[in-house]
Amino acid sequence: MIDSTRFEKFLNRVYKECIVNEHSIYEKDVITPNELLTWKDVENVINFNLGFVDIIDNNSNKIDIPALNYFWSSRIIQSKKSIFSLINSGNCFSITQCFYLNENINYLLSLIESKFDVICDAHLYGGLDTSANSFRPHIDIPSNFIIQIDGETHWKIYKNIASDMFPQEQINSMRVSNLELDYEVVLSPGDCIYIPPRRFHEAIPLGKRLSVSIPAASRKYSNALPVDRCLYEFTK
Ligand SMILES: [Fe+2]
Repeated sequence: MIDSTRFEKFLNRVYKECIVNEHSIYEKDVITPNELLTWKDVENVINFNLGFVDIIDNNSNKIDIPALNYFWSSRIIQSKKSIFSLINSGNCFSITQCFYLNENINYLLSLIESKFDVICDAHLYGGLDTSANSFRPHIDIPSNFIIQIDGETHWKIYKNIASDMFPQEQINSMRVSNLELDYEVVLSPGDCIYIPPRRFHEAIPLGKRLSVSIPAASRKYSNALPVDRCLYEFTK
């Protein structure tokens, strides 16, 4: 079922149904959206290469970002100067692999993984003005929880569901038309929405905005190992 609510209500609901004591992470019953993510976090992620950045242009196409192979390992270093320049000139960003961004993100993902049979990541989305369009109507294979941090975003969820007989990339490369609207809402800071897997959906930014998206991939269809969410300390 598609639903949107306040982030605190969602968190409270998941928290009460989880046996968090089985996990050796610290317990918190309240996280405010601003404790999850700030614009400073986004700057740090880009400046210190803590995630993988995609830039989406005004026509919802990805822009290539210059990147170098790091001298010491197979790690890729994206050009942060190019990334900042592209964002400052009005393009949208999507930053994946932010699952260890901070303790609160780690904690939120551990709650969702405790409640559901899923593995989560954290993706950051945003832009500095209305020209920063996001992706055109598309599907994602995982379920998605999206929390609005700053600004407003108009969400459209369609009734149409993509078959799993085609790869996601192939479906999303097509310009689909005649979609039938099922649900739409404008998310403000502190709101969150659930988007079911394979449902066509679209985000329309209404100005400067920042959100964090939690894709939750079913373990039934993944060979991936669960992520260790515990926080360890030196004992000596
Ligand atoms: Fe999406």
